Amino acid sequence: MAQIGNDIALARSFLEKGQLVGIPTETVYGLAGNALNPESVALIFETKNRPSFDPLILHTSSLERVGEFVSDFPEKLKQLAKKFWPGPLTLLLPRKPIVPDLVTSGLDRVAVRVPNHPLTRTLLEQLDFPLAAPSANPFGYISPTQAQHVEAQLGEKIPYILDGGPCAVGLESTIVGMEGEEIVIYRLGGLEIGEIEDVVGPVKVKDHSSSNPSAPGQLDSHYAPRKPFMLGDLKTLIAEKQAEGFDFAVLSFSDAFEQIPQEKQIALSPSHDLHEAAQNLFAAMRRLDETPVQVILAELLPEIGLGRAINDRLRRAAVKG
Ligand code: TXA
Ligand code: MG
Repeated sequence: MAQIGNDIALARSFLEKGQLVGIPTETVYGLAGNALNPESVALIFETKNRPSFDPLILHTSSLERVGEFVSDFPEKLKQLAKKFWPGPLTLLLPRKPIVPDLVTSGLDRVAVRVPNHPLTRTLLEQLDFPLAAPSANPFGYISPTQAQHVEAQLGEKIPYILDGGPCAVGLESTIVGMEGEEIVIYRLGGLEIGEIEDVVGPVKVKDHSSSNPSAPGQLDSHYAPRKPFMLGDLKTLIAEKQAEGFDFAVLSFSDAFEQIPQEKQIALSPSHDLHEAAQNLFAAMRRLDETPVQVILAELLPEIGLGRAINDRLRRAAVKG
């Protein structure tokens, strides 16, 4: 079992020995290892059961340090970095040879981010290497937003989890790069498209259903709970499942349903707040996935602001079911 605590020096000593540590960020918890040590990076893939063609994000403590790992920083992307780092933004930039092939799965660009969580920022400042950190969940499962989520799924495999409380944003970072002069969003996330467009103008959003995704996080099978997960109009779905005699749980944006037991329903934000809904999303999906029911019924949120990224996760969760 992993030890859980807020001892930065201890986290640091494990990382310096090449071991892995669960770390808090404002988006989701990461499974971190020394990004410049190929053995630590290999251990990340093994621990997560992640295919090696799915590259990792390199986390560092400041914009100034990014130059150690990238050979070019296009002006528009730098503007985004200046505005939104530390924060839920990941940039794809041409990598320097110091970045191991395994981190980028052999791609020319490395994904870089400066996360915004006090414990992890201090940790990164104290380390003399950057951290490679995918979300700290087994491959294909829901991302963790609390230290306990990491403990439940990877606790047997890692020595330490740095507990920074529940994640403030609750959705993974938004991944942004350039194709020619065009700004492209490869993964919708905790930084809203509108905020990005306010800085750099119109962007292109790459559809995740592409059969040859340039960010494999676009694969449909991500974020899936183990139970069948059905999306639609909740009143209709509830009536149907009741008529068919199914035992079900309900995940709504804000509605509560009188006829359904409390423990079988979660409203993401009773006050219709998309930020609150994002914070609660993954923990709610986990809790309902652990509830003894046959199927989870859910609805899409308004397709605006963070609602777009939330709906992206809900749709991918539903693909499996
Ligand atoms: O918020 C986040 O980004 C969290 C926290 C821990 O920082 N990390 C995270 O990592 O979500 P992960 O590994 O679960 O998702 C990273 C995504 C993957 O889908 C991967 O395909 C994509 O980023 N990615 C990483 N490096 C890439 C690269 N060089 N080119 C294209 N896509 C890349
Ligand atoms: Mg992930």
